[in-house]
Amino acid sequence: MNHPQAATDDRSGERVYRELMAGLQSGQKTINPKYFYDEAGSALFDQITSLPEYYPTRTETAILKNHAETIAMRVGRQRVVIEPGAGSCEKFRHLIPALQPSCYVPVDISTDYLAEAAAGLNESFPELQVEPVAADFSRTISLPGSVDCEAAVIFYPGSTIGNFEPADAVTFLQRMRTLVGSQGLILVGVDLHKDSAVLTAAYNDVAGVTAAFNRNILLHLNRLLGADFKPNLFQHHAFYNEQKRRIEMHLVSDVKQIVNCGDVSLQFAKGETIHTENSYKYSLQDFSSLVEKAGLKLEQSWTDRKNLFSVNLLSAAGCHR
Ligand code: AVJ
Repeated sequence: MNHPQAATDDRSGERVYRELMAGLQSGQKTINPKYFYDEAGSALFDQITSLPEYYPTRTETAILKNHAETIAMRVGRQRVVIEPGAGSCEKFRHLIPALQPSCYVPVDISTDYLAEAAAGLNESFPELQVEPVAADFSRTISLPGSVDCEAAVIFYPGSTIGNFEPADAVTFLQRMRTLVGSQGLILVGVDLHKDSAVLTAAYNDVAGVTAAFNRNILLHLNRLLGADFKPNLFQHHAFYNEQKRRIEMHLVSDVKQIVNCGDVSLQFAKGETIHTENSYKYSLQDFSSLVEKAGLKLEQSWTDRKNLFSVNLLSAAGCHR
């Protein structure tokens, strides 16, 4: 498949270098979690989604399957559906028969992966119009003219919204609201605050896949920055920060060491960490007030019986349908 939007693949070039170096040279070293998803990282994440400890994916999928008809009734059929960070496009499959969208626009940073996923989707649903867009949704505000965003539905599953600081999640939702207008809708997956043992286990699987996923970000950086990180000199550390209601993932330096990134050298003290991810967890009440700050209304939430995960429908406030 040919992708005219490939030039907007924002991972290339100067901006990436500056973003990464700024994070690595700050007091608490950080890497934006979007850099987890190179080819190996995407494959590792796929593995995570079927780990026994990692409940979010299977729970959300069950919610989407079980409530597809109700969701479709609330959303309405024949709508344009835009999915930021669509990746494998797997989750949307469960909604297609009930939702009967007029067009599906998966947006992802990874051009090749997206093309493959879109092609696979068209094999299963030959009638479905698929318009893949290769872009970084954290930066892109507009889509190609061929996509009619007015009154579209934003599908944002997986609790990816949990990667944002709450204030940034508000900004992101405001942007989505602007994109789709007063008749638009947002269907968003949100992982719920719960017993910390369940949360901690989900990010510390016995098989060590999450640890490998965390370390792999360093191999990705080695390629992006011409750096010489040695992943086995960093330990995976994930814990639930109860106060901030977020899982934090870090890479802890085993030893005092120096890492070279091109002509910049980074000092690591023994035990110093690189903060690689926050994954915020919300109560439905907390999420409802967050959504209101973005000028949206939480219309309905669907959850599983154990209240592990939620799928939420948001509309422009004041517009009752
Ligand atoms: C893709 C951001 C939803 O936060 O659970 C999984 C990523 N990190 N295991 C999450 C992730 C470690 C995941 N999200």
